[in-house]
Amino acid sequence: MPVGESGSTAMGIDRFVPSVARMYDWCLGGKDNFDVDREAMQAMMNQGFPDVVAIARQNRVFLERGVHYLAAEAGIRQFIDHGSGLPTQRNVHEVAQEAQPDARVVYIDNDPAVLAHGRALLAQNQQTTVISADMSRPEDVLADPATQTLIDFDQPVALLYVSVLHCLPDDQRPDLVLRRLLDAVPSGSYVLISHLASSDPQARDFLTNFMNERTPWGRVRSEDEIARFFDGLELVEPGLANINDWRPEHRATQFPEPRGYTPSSATENSGRIWEYGGIARKP
Ligand SMILES: C[S@@+](CC[C@H](N)C(=O)[O-])C[C@H]1O[C@@H](n2cnc3c(N)ncnc32)[C@H](O)[C@@H]1O
Repeated sequence: MPVGESGSTAMGIDRFVPSVARMYDWCLGGKDNFDVDREAMQAMMNQGFPDVVAIARQNRVFLERGVHYLAAEAGIRQFIDHGSGLPTQRNVHEVAQEAQPDARVVYIDNDPAVLAHGRALLAQNQQTTVISADMSRPEDVLADPATQTLIDFDQPVALLYVSVLHCLPDDQRPDLVLRRLLDAVPSGSYVLISHLASSDPQARDFLTNFMNERTPWGRVRSEDEIARFFDGLELVEPGLANINDWRPEHRATQFPEPRGYTPSSATENSGRIWEYGGIARKP
């Protein structure tokens, strides 16, 4: 992407401030990231979260398993993917359309790079769209003409919040954001959530502070706090779990090595932070 002297592209992409979308892209071996993103990730690994690359990859594979379950087993044909991230391999519409060829997907992200790359990827697919919106403003998501055109709110919808609710601080009320979307969809709809978790307050504080010192973010939550997002919903077996234990499949997904990746030697901190979540049905 062309970058001007100020550090911003015409699309509003800032190469001097790390972005969650680009940091995650780096973990998955993508090319849509800058030095500032790579440096932030290396610092995160060295200072307290050495296994972040593995966990990002595990999260992506969990997303794939979850979407496959929703389309192939639950029969869902409409998806709203909040915080969709930069396009990569096995995107939501590709997985969903394998089981439901007419599946429709609205991708939502507030990072300008996602809009730029997503529009290019999806130009050929009439059943998908990517919108630029802040998911903490659910009325904007629901009122967007693309959402209104693509989603039939009388039919079940899968609401995806995969590795993204931790981007919202408590004062943005992620619980109410989720409830507003759940109120808009009918019985028989589903939510798929993964969320960075730790039972160790020091580990929670480390990552929460690390991120907030660099870019607007939310916080790592405990498993009990994450479980509350599912109140009133029917959990799909096996319930809430470390995502690696949610219907594990022993299939090796190949991701390219992150550019310039140097494994962290700070292994004593590994295993303190993980992704926790599951799938639930609206009764
Ligand atoms: C860690 S990535 C997860 C990507 C994808 N859901 C996955 O699990 O593979 C988080 C994404 O959420 C986006 N995001 C963070 N806060 C957001 C907000 N308030 N509104 C919309 N998107 C947001 C980021 O830009 C980033 O692309």
